[in-house]
Amino acid sequence: MSKRPQTWHYGLVAQWWAEFNEAGPEIPYFQKLIECYGQPALDVACGTGRLLLPYLRAGLEVDGCDISPDMLALCRAKAEREGLAPRLYAQAMHELDLPRRYKTIFVCGAFGLGGDRQQDVEALCRFYHYVEPGGVLVLDNHLPYKNAWAWQYWVAEKRRQLPQAWQPSGDRRRAADGTEYELRLRLVHIDPLEQLLTLQIRVERWRAGQRLAAEENTLKARLYFKNELLLMLQQVGFGDIAVQGDYTEAEATAEHGVLVFIARK
Ligand SMILES: C[S@@+](CC[C@H](N)C(=O)[O-])C[C@H]1O[C@@H](n2cnc3c(N)ncnc32)[C@H](O)[C@@H]1O
Repeated sequence: MSKRPQTWHYGLVAQWWAEFNEAGPEIPYFQKLIECYGQPALDVACGTGRLLLPYLRAGLEVDGCDISPDMLALCRAKAEREGLAPRLYAQAMHELDLPRRYKTIFVCGAFGLGGDRQQDVEALCRFYHYVEPGGVLVLDNHLPYKNAWAWQYWVAEKRRQLPQAWQPSGDRRRAADGTEYELRLRLVHIDPLEQLLTLQIRVERWRAGQRLAAEENTLKARLYFKNELLLMLQQVGFGDIAVQGDYTEAEATAEHGVLVFIARK
C-alpha cells in the first residue's frame, strides 16, 4: 500500500481555510480557462471551494476532489447554504478513481503537497487518463525560489539554523461567529537534493481571551522547477504545453514566482 501524503488541511486548518480564504487572482484566471477549454471540469484539491463555489454560482459544470474529508465537508456545507450540490470526491490525486472524464482538469495550489515524487508522477498519469482527448490539464506550480523566506535555506550554512523557532504571535483573525483564529508557520527542514520542504503549522482558536483549541500539524511539500515539470508532463503523454506566469496570460519569465502549465491531451 502506498504511503498517505503528509498534509495539514484538517481540523482547525480546514476551518481557517473556510473562514478566510475566499478571494485571489486564481479565481478569474482559472474560470477563463475553463470557459475556453470546456466543461465538465474537475477541480483537483478543491479544498473548501474557493474556486469551485464561484464557478458553480456562475453556472459552470465543475466537480471537485480533495484528500481531506474536513475540507470537503466545509465546502459542501457552504455550497448547501447557497442551494448548490457539487459532486465531491474524497480522493488523493494519485488515486483518482472517477466515474467520468473532463474537458478541463485544473489543480490550484496543491501539486507536490504530501511529498512523494512517485505519487506526483502517478497523479499526472491519472490526470492524463481523466482528461478527454483534446482537453487540457491546467496545473499551477509555486517555484522554489519564489520567496526569499524559504529559498535562503537551500544553502548549507543557512540550513543548519533550521528548524525555525515559532514566532511569539501569529496571524490573528476574527471569524464570522466571533471567535478568533491565530495561525503560525515555521520551516522545519529542507532537503535540497530531494527538493523537499517540511513545514509546521500551529492554529489556535480563541473566544474572549480564552483558548478553546490548539492544533499543530506538518506538511511536506515537494518543489519543482519549470523544465522538470515540462518533462514530467511530456513523459505521461501531454503535448502542446504553454507556460504562463503569475495567473496572467503572459508567457512565463524569470520574474514570475508562480507558473501555470496548460497541457493538451
Ligand atoms: C492550499 S489548499 C488549496 C485549495 C484550493 N485548490 C484553493 O486554491 O483554494 C491545498 C488543498 O490540497 C489538498 N491536498 C493536498 N494534498 C493532496 C493530495 N495528494 N490529493 C488531493 N488533495 C490534496 C488539501 O487537502 C487542500 O485542500
